[in-house]
Amino acid sequence: MRYGFTGSQSKTIPQGRSAPAAGMIPFNRYEPAPHAAENLAQVLAGGHLSGDGPFTRMATARIRDALDGADVLLTTSGTHSLELAALVARIGPDDEVVMPSFTFSSTAAAFALRGARVRFADIDPGTLSMERPQLEAACTPATTAVCMMPYGGVMRDPGEIAGFCNERGLQVFEDAAHAIFARSSGRPFGTFGRLATLSFHNTKNVSGGEAGALVVNGAPEAFALAQVLREKGTNRAAFLRGEVDKYTWREVGSSYLPSELVAAVLAAELAGAAEKQANRHAAWQAYRERLDPLRARYGLRMQEIPPTVEHPAHVFAIILPASIDRTALLGLLRANGVQAAWHYEPLHRAVAHDRLRAAAGRDREELPVTDAVAPSLLRLPLYGTITLEEVDAVIRAVEESLARLASAR
Ligand SMILES: Cc1ncc(COP(=O)(O)O)c(C=O)c1O
Repeated sequence: MRYGFTGSQSKTIPQGRSAPAAGMIPFNRYEPAPHAAENLAQVLAGGHLSGDGPFTRMATARIRDALDGADVLLTTSGTHSLELAALVARIGPDDEVVMPSFTFSSTAAAFALRGARVRFADIDPGTLSMERPQLEAACTPATTAVCMMPYGGVMRDPGEIAGFCNERGLQVFEDAAHAIFARSSGRPFGTFGRLATLSFHNTKNVSGGEAGALVVNGAPEAFALAQVLREKGTNRAAFLRGEVDKYTWREVGSSYLPSELVAAVLAAELAGAAEKQANRHAAWQAYRERLDPLRARYGLRMQEIPPTVEHPAHVFAIILPASIDRTALLGLLRANGVQAAWHYEPLHRAVAHDRLRAAAGRDREELPVTDAVAPSLLRLPLYGTITLEEVDAVIRAVEESLARLASAR
């Protein structure tokens, strides 16, 4: 079993085998935003391909707007944003970081790379995110930090988790890779952690191919440090602003700034995001309404969206009862022209965690909700240019495939 990629993770071609056949409705599809090619041509013609040029500033300003004015730094990926966040917070071997197991490997690796102990928490069976009860159950006297991950941009109360952490002096991180444009009680996700991260991977609502952002909330000193750590540990950002007459090595950092080529695409994608978001929401709503009768008929579940949440239509998932075999359903959907996908291989069961736990003499966490959800969650095609005809075809394929599986029992 290869770590993390045993099946159809959202970031890989579903099934890990082949691209969708012609005529198939893909799980994810990228179509360039208007002006993406024009922006790229402008960068190439101008010759400024390295980072922190005009398109980086444009993309950063658009992300900042989406986050109600938070401090933002563009990075090379969501993964690198998490690594940068851990560096900014000076995470080290004395830290114990609690996070959900039902997340992508990068959430954990960023902290493990700094030598911290990662402790996995369970998820709420409705929202599929770690909420306060799961966090409290996972915290130990050694816990020093918490990383939330609003699954599909949905959490019951991220503000309550941030408050809990503040009361106990725990550092608060927020992996908001799924959550651009989502809000909780009117406040953008990505502004609840002192340090939050976004992903603009090709599978996300806004794509820069491989790109991300670090968000620093209400912490100007941390923002200043992040700028240095992101630029090979130098104060080049201050130099470019004319604040110092030369730049020098100040901190042990790395290179987390994307090239202007990536920023040019990202700036175009952010400018065109409203239309893609509208398509995503229309598709999400159609799935929700038209698949609703299947809940009672087959015992399916869907993610609970608390009334306080404006979700970003990033994920549409159905959770199958134990009587329905996910692999068989994926195969039938494929035969019906639909490429569905699944994730995540829970991190508390991952080989890397086994190795880290064994070295520290720790037992595996017991996370019954994660263990039940992970093998039964199936994601349906959802992308910014999906049409209602495609959604209709997916819904019919789901109905037919489930009926066939039921009649075979
Ligand atoms: C929850 C979560 N965190 C972090 C990442 C990493 O983001 P990136 O692919 O931009 O490195 C992902 C990407 O899929 C993710 O889903």
